[in-house]
Amino acid sequence: MKKIIIAIDGHAATGKSTQAKRLAKTLGYTYVDTGAMYRAVTLFGLNQDPKGGIEMNKLIQSLDQIRIYFEEVEGVQQTFLNGLNVTQSIRDPKVNEFVSQVAANESVRTFLSKQQQRMGEGKGVVMDGRDIGTVVFPNAECKFFLTASPEIRAQRRYQEQLESNHKESYEEVLNNVNARDALDAGRAIAPLRKADDAIEIDVSEMSITEVFDQLHGYILSKSDS
Ligand code: DC
Repeated sequence: MKKIIIAIDGHAATGKSTQAKRLAKTLGYTYVDTGAMYRAVTLFGLNQDPKGGIEMNKLIQSLDQIRIYFEEVEGVQQTFLNGLNVTQSIRDPKVNEFVSQVAANESVRTFLSKQQQRMGEGKGVVMDGRDIGTVVFPNAECKFFLTASPEIRAQRRYQEQLESNHKESYEEVLNNVNARDALDAGRAIAPLRKADDAIEIDVSEMSITEVFDQLHGYILSKSDS
């Protein structure tokens, strides 16, 4: 079967990464979590600034010192930043707070988009993010755009945080999800937007398996042709 590029974009907490991971496993493809890459750059910036914020100029000047890669540990994909496993720390509320600001920066986007394009050179990749079908791989064979109501998405993130011991109220999570979507969709460079040829799926009332079956069925029809 012909190897293709699968782009999964959409709003925060719509289950993009759950679907992308499962698809990659089923198809024997590589999974690339581009949100984790923006989060890792954000974490690097936070670690640079003793005041607990981000000095964007300093961060931009240090981009060449940042090395992000993914590696499987006991069958689970982990994110590494300069040799350190940052899989947990990139989900910290502090990173959530700053990541949209970092992701709006042109130098950061160029730096990460180029790496993402290299990762997809050999095809056989499932990549999730916000601009994969519009900017990183405008010629991807399969493009999906996932949406869901803000309340359902906030509930999912809240649940995830409970499991990982981060303490935010449901209202805080909802505000953060809404604020982040507004920033992601409103930024000048590579805003969150459905590609014209992407298939939009509202997952609000769908189970993970129902969404998976829909994506998988469409991919099979595309990779045969
Ligand atoms: O998918 P996520 O919540 O882990 O993404 C974290 C942030 O990174 C999100 O606010 C938007 C940004 N992002 C982006 O701008 N472009 C991408 N391709 C992926 C993520």
